[in-house]
Amino acid sequence: MKRLFTLILPFLITCALVVACDRAETPTASNTPASSSNPSSISAIPIGIAVAQTSNVALLGQEQVIGAKIAEQLFNQKGGVNGTPIKLVFQDTAGDEQGAINAFNTVITQDKVVGIVGPTLSQQAFSADPIADRAKVPVLAPSNTAKGIPQIGEYIARVSAPVAVVAPNAVKMALKLDPKIKKVAVFYAQNDAFSKSETGTFQETVKAQGLELVTVQKFQTTDTDFQSQATNAINAKPELMIISGLAADGGNLVKQLRELGYKGLIIGGNGLNTSNVLPVCKALCDGILIAQAYSPELSNEVNAAFRQAYVAQNKKEPPQFSAQAFTGVQVFVEALKSLDNKTKLNTLSLEQLRTQLNREILAGKYSTPLGEISFTPEGEIIQKDFYVAQIKMEPDGNNGKFNFLK
Ligand code: ALA
Repeated sequence: MKRLFTLILPFLITCALVVACDRAETPTASNTPASSSNPSSISAIPIGIAVAQTSNVALLGQEQVIGAKIAEQLFNQKGGVNGTPIKLVFQDTAGDEQGAINAFNTVITQDKVVGIVGPTLSQQAFSADPIADRAKVPVLAPSNTAKGIPQIGEYIARVSAPVAVVAPNAVKMALKLDPKIKKVAVFYAQNDAFSKSETGTFQETVKAQGLELVTVQKFQTTDTDFQSQATNAINAKPELMIISGLAADGGNLVKQLRELGYKGLIIGGNGLNTSNVLPVCKALCDGILIAQAYSPELSNEVNAAFRQAYVAQNKKEPPQFSAQAFTGVQVFVEALKSLDNKTKLNTLSLEQLRTQLNREILAGKYSTPLGEISFTPEGEIIQKDFYVAQIKMEPDGNNGKFNFLK
């Protein structure tokens, strides 16, 4: 199988180069390299996008699909990888570990991708990433923010800044908005690796800020009824509540806290960082604080192009999950270009290409919608800028947006 690919890949890439060269001779608006919808785009470099397109986790995953597709279109319009287009290969991971394992196996062995952007959850990454690592296939984690992700293996890096770096910003902002906060209640989903990791960071931050942690309440990401946890927390009389969960459960918990009369500030963690939470808690989402690893206002060329494409398509500002998925694809494209400049890709076997691409990814510096980023040798993202947004709902509860706070 491997040998077959070894023979086929250079051929495919050579074909792609020929196609791109032909096109370059007659440059018109209509003859940009093949897009993902063009069946003849077999002559393109396959990158796997293994995220949640179904299940509750699709509330996050759908935003990733949009971001990745914008990147594919934008970078192919600019000539792809030195003239060869990329082709994203989507495999739905759904919301659990087995779904992620299946999607990773499929993109690695069947679709023969050069690398993978995915999965959506850290909980899935801890099961699926070791498969890619053993197969020596580079993975860029687009949203896996739990502690320990890059340490899974040599082939695992992330474009999603970890909870330890992002989450404390929300607590500091809450204290700025309400300096009288003394008592804090914390909630987390105990069946989710990211939520467990994030609550650890939140709890440390609460103590480091000299605040009193009055209660820690646990739930499951599959829960819909939070009456007992919400009542316990309200009885402890906190002025701030912090939730580490995912969008559906987190949104429902916010709703039930407000329905039971809680009036203080609420921080939502990274799993609530999507406008898909708005239909869950509607008008009661108003005021939720969420730390951000992306701002639509970041000023650089690539973010301007990404933002323009996203707004044209979705009539709203791009969210963090889309920006990070875009960035994952961008890093693959730029690292492939840089590798091709040193060693022509069509002279490499798939195995060599994956290994050398991994090295190239870690060595590079990238100007992305997240700002300037690079990686530690272990694959941890080095990123400078973080933000905090507050959800502002219109009174009818049907529309709302994320206001970035200064
Ligand atoms: N940031 C969340 C996770 O790591 C989505 O699972």
